[in-house]
Amino acid sequence: MNGDEWSSSKKDRAKRFVTMSLQESIDDIQKAVDSFPIVTSAELESFRVKFLGTKGLLKQLYQDLKTVEAGNRKSIGQRINELKETAEAKFTTHQKNLTPTSDQNSATVDDVTRPTAEPQIGSRHPLSIVRNQITDVFARIGFTVSDGPEIEDDWHNFSALNFPPEHPARDMQDTFFIAKSSTDDKSGEIALRTHTSSVQVRVMESTPPPIRTISPGRVYRNEAISARAHCFFHQVEGLYIDKGVSFADLKQTIDYFAKSVFGTDVKLRFRPSYFPFTEPSAEVDVSCTLCQGKGCNVCKHTGWLEILGCGMVDPAVLEACGIDSKTYTGFAFGMGIERIAQIKFRVTDLRMYSENDIRFLGQFKSAF
Ligand code: PHE
Repeated sequence: MNGDEWSSSKKDRAKRFVTMSLQESIDDIQKAVDSFPIVTSAELESFRVKFLGTKGLLKQLYQDLKTVEAGNRKSIGQRINELKETAEAKFTTHQKNLTPTSDQNSATVDDVTRPTAEPQIGSRHPLSIVRNQITDVFARIGFTVSDGPEIEDDWHNFSALNFPPEHPARDMQDTFFIAKSSTDDKSGEIALRTHTSSVQVRVMESTPPPIRTISPGRVYRNEAISARAHCFFHQVEGLYIDKGVSFADLKQTIDYFAKSVFGTDVKLRFRPSYFPFTEPSAEVDVSCTLCQGKGCNVCKHTGWLEILGCGMVDPAVLEACGIDSKTYTGFAFGMGIERIAQIKFRVTDLRMYSENDIRFLGQFKSAF
């Protein structure tokens, strides 16, 4: 054995020794990886630094691999690779479990001192506010509330109210017709009611006088939708029938109503008009609440705003509904709730009432 051979076998033995101790190190590190407890993110970070970091134990193993005898390098290298994969898998699994998801964010889950989101409080629809106010005003002078169907027959919507068939007055209200009634000749065509006078016909047919009632509700007319017209809107119509009811009673009732809703300073004007079911008939204006009668855009520089139609119930209507017109007289009136709301709240576009825009609706929170 020459000197070179000796030195090479000495080197080999040294390398074999390195190989054995490296295998032991791999076993030890494998156990350490498996048993390392990770509960908190601080522990996860310690794990990463200890095993996977740039100065970690796995880096060290790769360094030591260079000193292993050539024949074993491949197999030991594979073992180190496997160990590395195990450590990385353990790291990513715990990392996923410890990362808060958006809905279990620790701030929202744990911070009990955090102010809560302000609850969204709804508000009454402006048309409901006005309808309730009108109902209250009339309830104080003894008017009950009556209700009826929105799909109505010709008799209740037209004929009983003194609109004979083919009479041009039927064109005053563009009607949505639905069907012809097949069974009852008297009822005629079926349509969406064009006014709540139909409810009053039903009340007169079923209740003996005295009658004092208002009928709020939705009505339909076949009109193109614009800022000033809609295919549906809301009315309150009223009816008072008793012995000796006069036009003076009508005037006083409307005066009381207008002053209750628009304030005691408001002035009223009755203009002669025509409705098939009342005689005499009138339309009522109030002095413009915006310009106090001086003239502005809303009142079209007239100083007046029209609010309702009214008149003494035509005896032919009383008779059609089975009420003796020699004993009883009565008055009736009808108004659009949108119109009253427009004047009270200065809403210039009718479409806003049915668009459900909460930026509009939310403005009436304090109205009552
Ligand atoms: N029914 C009428 C309309 O809808 C209003 C009205 C009612 C007029 C009662 C006079 C009397 O236009």
